[in-house]
Amino acid sequence: MQGTVFVTRRIPQPGLDLLAYAGLTVEVNPHDRVLSREELLAGVRGKDGVLCLLTDKIDDAVMDAAGPRCKGFANYAVGYDNVDLTAATRRGLPVSNTPGVLTDAAADQAWALLMAAARRTVESDAFMRTGKWQGWGPMQFLGVDLVGATLGIVGAGRIGTVVARRAAGWQMNIIYTDPRGKPEFEEEFGARRVELDQLLREADFVSLHVALTPQTHHLIGKRELELMKPTAVLVNTSRGPVVNEAALVDALRERRIFAAGLDVYEHEPAAAPGLLDLPNVVACPHLGSATIRTRTAMATMAATNLLAMLRGEMPLNCVNPEVLEGQKKKEMM
Ligand code: DGY
Repeated sequence: MQGTVFVTRRIPQPGLDLLAYAGLTVEVNPHDRVLSREELLAGVRGKDGVLCLLTDKIDDAVMDAAGPRCKGFANYAVGYDNVDLTAATRRGLPVSNTPGVLTDAAADQAWALLMAAARRTVESDAFMRTGKWQGWGPMQFLGVDLVGATLGIVGAGRIGTVVARRAAGWQMNIIYTDPRGKPEFEEEFGARRVELDQLLREADFVSLHVALTPQTHHLIGKRELELMKPTAVLVNTSRGPVVNEAALVDALRERRIFAAGLDVYEHEPAAAPGLLDLPNVVACPHLGSATIRTRTAMATMAATNLLAMLRGEMPLNCVNPEVLEGQKKKEMM
């Protein structure tokens, strides 16, 4: 296969190797950082395809810069809110994502944050490191219990389902919201589908697993946080803008909820003013899929998708399949 592809940041080598072994010239962002807008526009110019990241805004300007040779964008993430899908579809450009391979890692990260927030692990670790600990005390760093608690899953998709499955170890009650009823989810977990307001009122732990869309932007704001129990923990491993972060800072500061475990932020890489000063926040830098095996699987999956696009075939994980289905129909006419 001939052509040149642009990879907007170094990914695990097996993904790059797949592209190179196919005969492609592979240009990789030489810096270990997010490219500036100008660098991104220059990098994609005249390329046959692009392997991009959730930190790249792929919009009309980027598609214009890539130009007519470009056969599509393979996103190295399951979420693809960074890509203007309408623009890509209008231009007949396929876009792909990396579903499935990161489900377990992302669910584990939600649990790591949930447990750390519930048991004040990070706060107490920081205390320990100051050398101030004077010995065991009955009132030190009291947290909240998991066993028998109610877990509220917002979005019962792939990751939400695995998060619910892990809850069996703590005999939790599961409630969930989802635009569609999920009979298998209800059957497997004895779960109840409720409206978001009810979930927020009842849940001891609220874990967010929705894609970022105009409908889910600020799904959790001041009003919603006020519905939560003062002992509740909010976990967000989905996308930052699903939560109004300024409202969350107020709720945590005023102890209107117990704690939050966050992997994502409204304006990454920045955190809302004051957020990181709060002891009742566990904050990770968007590490949901960050295990060696998962990131490697994402790399080969994204590369395989890109190779399919370059061959004019339907990538396995195309999120706008209509662009290629339309093309196939035209060819058959
Ligand atoms: C994704 O794939 O969307 C995750 O946020 C990456 O960690």
